[in-house]
Amino acid sequence: MLLAGCALRTPAAATREFQLDAAPAVLAVDPQARAVPAWAFGGSVPGPLLRARQGERLRVVLRNALPQATTVHWHGVRVPNAMDGVPHLTQPPVPPGGDFRYEFQLPDAGTYWYHSHLQSAEQVERGLYGVLVVEEREPPAVDRDLAWVLDDWRLTPEGRIAEGFLAAHDVSHAGRIGNVVTLNGSGEPPDLVLRRGERVRLRLLNAANGRIFGLQFEGHAPRIIALDGQPVAPHEPARGRVVLGPGMRCDLVLDATAAAGRRYAVRDTFYRAQSYDLVHIAYPDAPLRERPPDALPPLAANPLPEPDLARAIRHEIVFEGGMMGGMHRALLDGSPRDFGSLLRQGKAWAVNGVVASGHGMAPLLTLPRGGSVVLAMRNDTRWHHPIHLHGHTFRVLTRGGRATTHREWQDTVLMEPMERVEIAFVADNPGDWMFHCHILEHQEGGMMAVVRVL
Ligand code: C2O
Ligand code: CU
Repeated sequence: MLLAGCALRTPAAATREFQLDAAPAVLAVDPQARAVPAWAFGGSVPGPLLRARQGERLRVVLRNALPQATTVHWHGVRVPNAMDGVPHLTQPPVPPGGDFRYEFQLPDAGTYWYHSHLQSAEQVERGLYGVLVVEEREPPAVDRDLAWVLDDWRLTPEGRIAEGFLAAHDVSHAGRIGNVVTLNGSGEPPDLVLRRGERVRLRLLNAANGRIFGLQFEGHAPRIIALDGQPVAPHEPARGRVVLGPGMRCDLVLDATAAAGRRYAVRDTFYRAQSYDLVHIAYPDAPLRERPPDALPPLAANPLPEPDLARAIRHEIVFEGGMMGGMHRALLDGSPRDFGSLLRQGKAWAVNGVVASGHGMAPLLTLPRGGSVVLAMRNDTRWHHPIHLHGHTFRVLTRGGRATTHREWQDTVLMEPMERVEIAFVADNPGDWMFHCHILEHQEGGMMAVVRVL
C-alpha cells in the first residue's frame, strides 16, 4: 500500500549481462553437411540471440579470440557514442586476446542486431553477427516469437568460405553475393511447422553482405508490424513481397490460415531470374484453434523524438559511382582521382564527391544537437543501396517525390537505382556517427561518411 507523502523509490533498471567470445568456429552451413570453418560469436552462426527488456541496461563483455582485431556494433540501438563499436572513431579496435565492455540502456523495444564493424566485409561474411531482441514492456499476444536470420555464403567446391574479400567486381557491382543461402545458419532449414489458427511473430534479419531478399509467402498473408525494430501500422507488404536489404529487419505477424495436408513455399523472388524456395511451411493435422485472432493491435510506439519539419535544416546527399554510373572523378584522401584510378585502389563510390578511405574521417555534416534535420538523398547510381545511419532513427518521408504511406521509422533505408528518398530525424545523440551503405563491399569501396552531432 502507498501512503500519502511517501517518497516513491524508482527501482534501478535491471542489467542484463552477457559474454560474447569472438572465435573461430565450425559450422554446418553447407547443404552437403560438410563442416565449414567460420568465425562466430559464442560458437554459433548466428551468434546467441540476446534478449532484454525495454528500459533495461545491457552489459556485454566481448572477448576477442580471433586472429584479427574486432569490435561490436549494436545496429539500430540508440547507444551513447562511445558504445557504438566503430573502430578508430568511437573506440580502439579490440586486439586478438583483448576484451571490451559494452554497456548501455535500451531505450527502444524491437528487433536489432549486433555485428563486427572492423573489416566487416570479411568478418561479417565469416559469421560475426547475431540478433538482439528488446522486448516490449507489454509484448503483443502471439503463440510463438521466432527469429529468421538470413545470410548467404560464397563457398568453394571444398566447402570453404571463398577468400578474395573485397574483389574489385563485388566492390563496383552489387556486393559479394554468395552461392549458398542460409536461414539461421542452415543451408537446408527444416520446415516451419504451423498449426492452424496459430499466430507467430517472425523477426527477419538480413545479415548478408550484399544480397537483397524479397520473400513471398505462398498461401499466407503476413502483415508487417515493425521495420528495423520500430512499430509501423500493421500492413501487408507491397505486392505481397517482404523486401529486406542488408542490415534491415522486419517483424511480421504470420497467421496460420492455410489448409492442412500440404506444404507452402516461402520464396525469395528478389532477383527474378534466380528465384528459389528459402524454406517451406508445413501443417500437421491437429489445429491449435479454429482461426487466428481477428484483431491485430499495433505495437506501442518507441520514445523517438519527432522531427519538426517546418524548422528542419536541409542537406542534400548524393551517392555516386559503381559500374555503369556517371562518376568521372571524386576526392580520395583530399585529391581528385578519376574512376579508373579509384577502381585500382579498391574504391568505386562517393558521397557528395568524397570517397571514404576509413572510419576515422572528417565529418560530411556537422549538425547542431537537438535540431531537426532533413536529408534529401539521391541515388545517382545503377545499383541498390541500403543506407544506414548510426545512433539515430529516422522517418522516411518521401520516395521518388511521393510521401510514404506509413512515414516509417527506420535506421536503414533501401534506395533503388536512381531513386530519391527524403528522411528526417532529430540530431539528439552527440558524437561522430557513421552514415554508410550496408552493402559491405560498397561501404569499404568508399560509400561511407561521418555525421557529427555537436
Ligand atoms: Cu550495421 Cu555501420 O552498421
Ligand atoms: Cu551500396
